[in-house]
Amino acid sequence: MTAQYADHVDLAAVGFDPTSAGFLADPYPVYARMRELGPVLYHPARNVYLLTRFEHVHAALRDRRLGRGFDHRYTAAEFGRPEPDPRWTRWAESERWSLLNLEPPDHTRLRRLVSAVFTPRAIAALRPVIEDYSDRTLAAATGPGEFDLIADYAQPFSVAVICTLLGVPVDDGSRLLDWSHAIVKMYEISTDDEHRAVAERAAGEFIDYVRALIAERRHEPRGDLISELIGIADQGDRLSQDEIVCTVIVLLNAGHEATVNTLGNGMRALLTHPDQWSRLLDGEVEPQVAVEEMIRWDGPLQLFERWVLQDGVEVAGRRFAVGERIAMLFGSANRDPARFPDADRFDIGRGDTGHIGFGGGTHFCIGAPLARLEIAVSLERLRRDCPGLKLVGEPEYEPFFVIRGLQELRVVHSERRTGAL
Ligand code: HEM
Repeated sequence: MTAQYADHVDLAAVGFDPTSAGFLADPYPVYARMRELGPVLYHPARNVYLLTRFEHVHAALRDRRLGRGFDHRYTAAEFGRPEPDPRWTRWAESERWSLLNLEPPDHTRLRRLVSAVFTPRAIAALRPVIEDYSDRTLAAATGPGEFDLIADYAQPFSVAVICTLLGVPVDDGSRLLDWSHAIVKMYEISTDDEHRAVAERAAGEFIDYVRALIAERRHEPRGDLISELIGIADQGDRLSQDEIVCTVIVLLNAGHEATVNTLGNGMRALLTHPDQWSRLLDGEVEPQVAVEEMIRWDGPLQLFERWVLQDGVEVAGRRFAVGERIAMLFGSANRDPARFPDADRFDIGRGDTGHIGFGGGTHFCIGAPLARLEIAVSLERLRRDCPGLKLVGEPEYEPFFVIRGLQELRVVHSERRTGAL
């Protein structure tokens, strides 16, 4: 099939099935077939157009006629969408002022206020804290036997970092993890009412928790991000209580889910490519360079959607109408051979920061400097303290598509390599 765009391609026939274990285990050969089929493929199950190639995903991320949300311009009725489901109001409340969902002018205002405290400099200053958490968490995880690099290292490490930055008690980390895992199921392409009900309950508890924390910090400010958000005044423009609640929730959730999964997926890639792990151990490739390839090659976020807000938007020769929905396949775009030479090869020395793992345009990941630093510090520590790391068994991916991560990553830490760094 050589059509420029294909509305009637049978995606299941090429293996695109976000609910199938086989697809989730390795979606990349399927993406390759999809890129061949065309740049825009219709997915009837979700009534969405999938963008398969880097060029178009890159352009769509920057196209202001496409939006994460539509309610700043249209009512649900005008947009041909059902009214929000009254069963999931607390979840909707937790999302209402999330940067991820806003469009200008609200997005511009809120992002500017958050960026004022969430600066690359503030993140760089956090390095010693991040190194300390990494050392301590790794020391606790690496006993004589095997351990789970995700549950025993990546999760507690990353949650502790984001909690510290925000000023949330680190001891509450496991509750935050449970709420966050429940809430993000709402982003999956196929989710059910059972998962939605759990997400609703989690969102309610999370909102109440953050509100109580804000009240405490208002009473007694500290040098943390929550206190700074409360204190921000920008030309008379203050963040409202609801905006702070949603911002804290999105930073806590986004602040570890993707980082943990990048560490899991990326360490799996390194340990199944011993030649690449050796390049890191030998110092031929530095951690901050390897991070980029870990995100490109098997990224933690496979798909992001946009609404068409204006008639006449054209992508790869196909014209879209207001109300249509586009899904950008990040996982496919990052393996597009038209952009990345030998795209399926895992090459940690590639050093190409032009992947779209952190998105692009208005919604470009605000946490990218923090994520890069956390992963680079982890790689530094892992190569120094566990050079003989080996996989135990074949790790399995979670049965979810949009957020791609392993159920666990069991490893064993054998003796130190002589001559290693
Ligand atoms: C490797 C780890 C990470 C990856 C791959 C990642 C990826 C992304 C992507 C792709 C987007 C854009 C979504 C879109 O265009 O619709 C995004 C946005 C965002 N990310 Fe990250 N992220 C990571 C880590 C983090 C961290 C550590 C934080 C916070 C501490 C964070 C906070 C956010 C926020 C708040 C947004 C919304 C920004 C906006 O809409 O203006 N992320 N991230």
